[in-house]
Amino acid sequence: VIRVTVPLGERSYDVLVGPGVRARLAEVVPASARRLALVTQPGIPCDLDVGVEHRVFQIGTGEEHKTLPTVEALCRAFADWGLTRNDCVVGVGGGLVTDVAGFAAAVYHRGVPVVHVATSLLAMVDAAIGGKTGVNLPEGKNLVGAYWQPSAVLCDTELLATLPAREWACGHGEMAKYHFLTGDDLLALPLDERIARCVAIKAEVVAGDEREAGRRALLNYGHTLAHALEIAARFDLRHGEAVAVGLVYAAEVAAAMERISPSRVDAHRAVVASYGLSAELPAGVDVDELVALMARDKKALDGLTFVLDGPRGIEVVSGVERRVLDQAFARMGA
Ligand SMILES: NC(=O)c1ccc[n+]([C@@H]2O[C@H](COP(=O)([O-])OP(=O)(O)OC[C@H]3O[C@@H](n4cnc5c(N)ncnc54)[C@H](O)[C@@H]3O)[C@@H](O)[C@H]2O)c1
Ligand SMILES: [Zn+2]
Repeated sequence: VIRVTVPLGERSYDVLVGPGVRARLAEVVPASARRLALVTQPGIPCDLDVGVEHRVFQIGTGEEHKTLPTVEALCRAFADWGLTRNDCVVGVGGGLVTDVAGFAAAVYHRGVPVVHVATSLLAMVDAAIGGKTGVNLPEGKNLVGAYWQPSAVLCDTELLATLPAREWACGHGEMAKYHFLTGDDLLALPLDERIARCVAIKAEVVAGDEREAGRRALLNYGHTLAHALEIAARFDLRHGEAVAVGLVYAAEVAAAMERISPSRVDAHRAVVASYGLSAELPAGVDVDELVALMARDKKALDGLTFVLDGPRGIEVVSGVERRVLDQAFARMGA
């Protein structure tokens, strides 16, 4: 079992990664908790050794259930059961469950402890770590939320045995991103160690910038084009698949600005390919539409802002010119 600490002062917590770590749940919940509210979804493997009184609260599967009504229903069920502020919520599932359970925990009684048992690769390397919680509105994804750090996160890699292939692809897209945030050779590591290394990279970034005043934005590497491709929606791309394309596009943008060499672009393509992900723009993309969508992206603070590789590593770069974007699209075959 690998233990990674997210160092956030008195809100620091441990992430345990390895096969079977779900058995450690009783050990990581706060000692004050007399009851655990387990929030999960149908189909999630959830054989937990709980130790204390508990109840299971199911939420629906799919982004359309990541809503305020779902949070309200959960909080009402918690209240009906008599869950107190000393008790604990446990989110058992992928990123959707940990985002919703984390947000419900953040607002119920103005905040109760939460522990996450991450069951998807994406939740293990990304969503369950770092304390961003929230739900969608019809107006956009993740528009309502709170920063609410868990008391612990368990990444039980045994649970990945049942993860569908498309969900592996999603997790791999985010995992590929971590290859460029540090110089580490993540591919040389076995899966459990690689997951733990991704957690450690995210933990380090989050610890330095919990509320995304600056450096945390680096975790959006590859996401500017990815979000535009997802909003354009016609393309049947899952988030991680869109990130894979977005990583290669960001490398092409950086190369067009002469921030990196062509061989560094090749390195991006090689990492994406090593995960079996495609770096191809979907057929029929409309470059003008994608540029307009990228300009609207909430991460774009000042004109076209990108997270780009360069001589000083990955950094936020604003004022990226249209000419450069077109050049990068051309290199991607658009
Ligand atoms: N808070 C953050 O920092 C953060 C970061 C990235 C993503 N997210 C959010 O995470 C969500 C995506 O997370 P996700 O990719 O895990 O999707 P998800 O939670 O919707 O899970 C995908 C599917 O896999 C199933 N599943 C999960 N674990 C399984 C297992 N072990 N075996 C079988 N099936 C399993 C789920 O039931 C679901 O059907 C999005 O809502 C996104 O906004 C949040
Ligand atoms: Zn992402």
